Amino acid sequence: MNLLLLTVAILGSIVCLLILLNIFIWRWTIGWAPTTKGDAEKIIQLARIEEGDKLFDLGCGDGRFLLMGAKRGSEVTGIEIEPLRYLISKVRALLSKNRDKINVKYGNFFNLNLKEADVVILYLSPRVNEKLKPKLEKELTSGTVVISYQYKLPNWSPTKKIREKEIYHYRFPKSMEF
Ligand SMILES: C[S@@+](CC[C@H](N)C(=O)[O-])C[C@H]1O[C@@H](n2cnc3c(N)ncnc32)[C@H](O)[C@@H]1O
Repeated sequence: MNLLLLTVAILGSIVCLLILLNIFIWRWTIGWAPTTKGDAEKIIQLARIEEGDKLFDLGCGDGRFLLMGAKRGSEVTGIEIEPLRYLISKVRALLSKNRDKINVKYGNFFNLNLKEADVVILYLSPRVNEKLKPKLEKELTSGTVVISYQYKLPNWSPTKKIREKEIYHYRFPKSMEF
């Protein structure tokens, strides 16, 4: 009985700690509004992912793009700074039959090198896009596709866009030449 109480107390404390950490991180990140399923499908189609492509989702939320990308044969990397969302992504990846194609990292995407990426997916904010742009310009290799949902990348010109859905497709470095 005592052991049961102790286990419940420990698990309860861990959950409370994760919730507090989540609230704290929520204050200085951009919150969470996952891409709708329909728009996620449009983004994946626009990215024209091919077998073996390396897809990165910066701020992967609940991991929906990771599952969709892996299903299409790409090698996907997602990184998430909020512990609960990271755990959700991690569990979903582990339960997926394409788990060998999915790498879920916990941390800040500003510390992740992007030079391997063929496709980068962003659903962030105007402020974070602006901050991220120099990193993209420094690390992306020629031909990499960047798709930003809802928000443009300042001073880059989209190679394609789905205007009514605010989905912006860029190709590096072509999108910087205007
Ligand atoms: C609007 S949600 C998008 C989630 C997912 N990509 C989607 O489209 O459904 C943005 C996510 O980025 C995460 N995020 C924000 N800043 C981050 C950072 N610096 N490093 C890692 N994740 C970050 C947030 O915690 C949040 O889960």
